[in-house]
Amino acid sequence: PATLPPYSHELNWPEGMAPFKVVDDGSQGDPYAHYEWMREHAPVLRSYSPVSDVWFISRYDDVRKAMRAPKVFSSQVVEPVPLTFLTLFDAPNHTRLRQVVAQAFTPKAIGRFEERVRENAHKYLDPMIAAGGGDAVDDYAIPLSMSTISALLDVPAADFDKMKFWSDETFSYFGRLARNAEGTGTDEQSTFEFFAYLKDTMERLYREESESVGGHIARMWKEGLLSEKEAKELCAFVFVAGHDTTTILLANAFRLFSEHPELLDRIRERPEDASLFLEELARYRGTVQRVSRITTEEVEVAGVTLPAGAIVRLLPAAANRDSAKYPDGEKFDIDRNNDGHLGFGHGVHSCLGAPLARLETQVTIEILAQKLGSLILDQDKPIEYVRGNNLTNSGPEHLHVKLEKFN
Ligand code: HEM
Repeated sequence: PATLPPYSHELNWPEGMAPFKVVDDGSQGDPYAHYEWMREHAPVLRSYSPVSDVWFISRYDDVRKAMRAPKVFSSQVVEPVPLTFLTLFDAPNHTRLRQVVAQAFTPKAIGRFEERVRENAHKYLDPMIAAGGGDAVDDYAIPLSMSTISALLDVPAADFDKMKFWSDETFSYFGRLARNAEGTGTDEQSTFEFFAYLKDTMERLYREESESVGGHIARMWKEGLLSEKEAKELCAFVFVAGHDTTTILLANAFRLFSEHPELLDRIRERPEDASLFLEELARYRGTVQRVSRITTEEVEVAGVTLPAGAIVRLLPAAANRDSAKYPDGEKFDIDRNNDGHLGFGHGVHSCLGAPLARLETQVTIEILAQKLGSLILDQDKPIEYVRGNNLTNSGPEHLHVKLEKFN
């Protein structure tokens, strides 16, 4: 029909800007220039690859509206749902599973982490300061988010690398099943190992009456509210949903201080302003770029009719800079009103771990300001962005900084 928008590669992109794609061509580490152009010229954009036909939605009002309409914009993008990952379910299954997990994310439960996060923040930052700098990702953001998520699940921090390997392999295995693709089979073996490890962990947490989120999920299993499969996979999901996302936001806090050095002084003098910095960071340079939905019926967005069954990627990071909602949206300004930003999603699927991610990031902002007189990017080592075809999260893979202590 005439209402279908042209494909991304058929559009007249500005010179030097590659068409926005479903998959990464290396240009999407910092996609904000693309987003700006899309919001203005193609608020609903189709991108075609030999295996997919995907619709991107980039304006604030449209993204928010879609997040509030889960019956039309379904999260069940894969049928049957291969894993108990909350982001892949609609009501009523989603409602049941989310309620069970949400009980473990109370403010009190999260508040218990504050002391530990603070101690660890100092522990990882001090050697960097002593060395005059380092990699904000490897030396700070990964160890902090890793130690926190390990404590949340009550698994030894020493098992983190193993869990990360297994969870990546599990993704690859289920992705392969979904595409009916052949593979080496090592990912299948790793998936079994991961689930066996999670089962043993659940048994242990139950025995030890662990107060952690992992312990809570284990009890729900033993009390019959979750099946064994659900319990194991929900633990895996909390792990997957919680570590890369937080790592990137923490690293971006370093980046924003380097771009706004005056904020070191301001927050050192007024530590309570760290929360303003945090919220603006989540709006301006949040982690999650894309969330997936599938339309259950024909629906109009920004004057374009999407057919039923359209695979949609909502772009919260694009929506968050929409000047129609946030005047001068491309500007980082901690004094602006950024209420309603979509950095942690919105609606029934909004992020359950947001209080924890906020805690880690706010503590980081406060401590950086308290300890540093100067934070600049190391000009000899340009930012390296996370690469690959998982474009849900975008941000630095490495961020080399030079640090000077505040005297
Ligand atoms: C869902 C962002 C950290 C657990 C989401 C969603 C977003 C998001 C945008 C919505 C997905 C959708 O609508 O389909 C982030 C960001 C984080 C972060 C930017 C860090 C900076 C965490 C952490 C945890 C966590 C630390 C757990 C410890 C979850 C869960 C959901 C979720 C369980 C699924 C909720 C549901 O589908 O009902 N997150 N997240 N997240 N996040 Fe986070």
